[in-house]
Amino acid sequence: MPKKTLILPGLIDVHVHLREPGGEHKEDFFTGSQSALAGGITTVMAMPNTYPPLVTFDQWSIAQQTADRKSLCDVFLYAGASSEHINELARLQTAVPALKLYMDQTYGPLRVQGLAQLMAVARAWHPDKIIAVHAEGESVAVAIALSAALNRRVHLCHISRKEEIELIAAAKANGLPITCEVTPHHLFLTEADAQRLGSLGDMRPLLAEQRDVDALWEHINTTIDCIASDHAPHTLEEKQSDNPPPGVPGLESSLPLMLTAAAQGRLTYERLIELMYHNPRRIFSLSKQSETWVEVDPLARYTFPDHPLYTKCGWSPFEGMDMQGHIRRVVFKGKEFVRDGIIRHS
Ligand code: DOR
Ligand code: ZN
Ligand code: ZN
Repeated sequence: MPKKTLILPGLIDVHVHLREPGGEHKEDFFTGSQSALAGGITTVMAMPNTYPPLVTFDQWSIAQQTADRKSLCDVFLYAGASSEHINELARLQTAVPALKLYMDQTYGPLRVQGLAQLMAVARAWHPDKIIAVHAEGESVAVAIALSAALNRRVHLCHISRKEEIELIAAAKANGLPITCEVTPHHLFLTEADAQRLGSLGDMRPLLAEQRDVDALWEHINTTIDCIASDHAPHTLEEKQSDNPPPGVPGLESSLPLMLTAAAQGRLTYERLIELMYHNPRRIFSLSKQSETWVEVDPLARYTFPDHPLYTKCGWSPFEGMDMQGHIRRVVFKGKEFVRDGIIRHS
């Protein structure tokens, strides 16, 4: 039986989209960081598929300065890989925590295609610095091959299929410098939910079959390094339009879902902390935040959400779900920011 109060470190989400610059009607650094804190997350790493995308040093540094000014929690921005801007990578890698490489089609303007271009990017980025990759299906094998052949670090984003996680397990067993993350939506939803949710259940990678979800859970204590939300807010109007963009918000549901899984005995609370704090911190070399913690009541049951959502998009694919594990307080760098779902500081 867990204790009535559980103290977690301020959690880290290494994969979010905060939409600034260019998509501020969906989310911005202020609302995105409110959403993070309300969800018990005190550090986020935000993706560069913005408008403009963060593919040059100047674009990246302007956006990072805006993030520093407007965010309530710590926000670190990825740079984006682009075949037209390979010559920017040398300068970017001195300042940027990690590079994001899109190998497959998804939302936003970034994609690198073809072996020559992929090799040019993989060679230009320091081998000990992370390249986080959006790779699906066979692209996962290509990303692993680049890691093996060039002896470089690769982090595989939002792994969702049985064969993908099994391939990663095999590659890790051979000692390759690869890591991976899984989203709560791929752990909790299947294509049956995609049918029920319509465009609100559409994201990349798509929701998968039960056999895939089962395989991910089988690897929760071994192959999977991090839980990351892939918080990808789009407005309800956009999602309900004729051409809905893929993506679902996740910053406020990630910890509640993983606490629910822990309450059900699907993983231990210690493992949850490894997946949402220790491993992300180690993999992305993030520094410790002093006087920062999250107080949770692991026994409290409720119907999600238990507070009005702070993400600007204002919806969640998990609305109405029964959850167990309530976020009671979030203290960030000595200040109480959240109490019972409500942000106290702004
Ligand atoms: O569903 C997704 N949405 N997958 C991605 O890879 C990108 C994201 C977005 O930016 O909306
Ligand atoms: Zn992606
Ligand atoms: Zn993403």
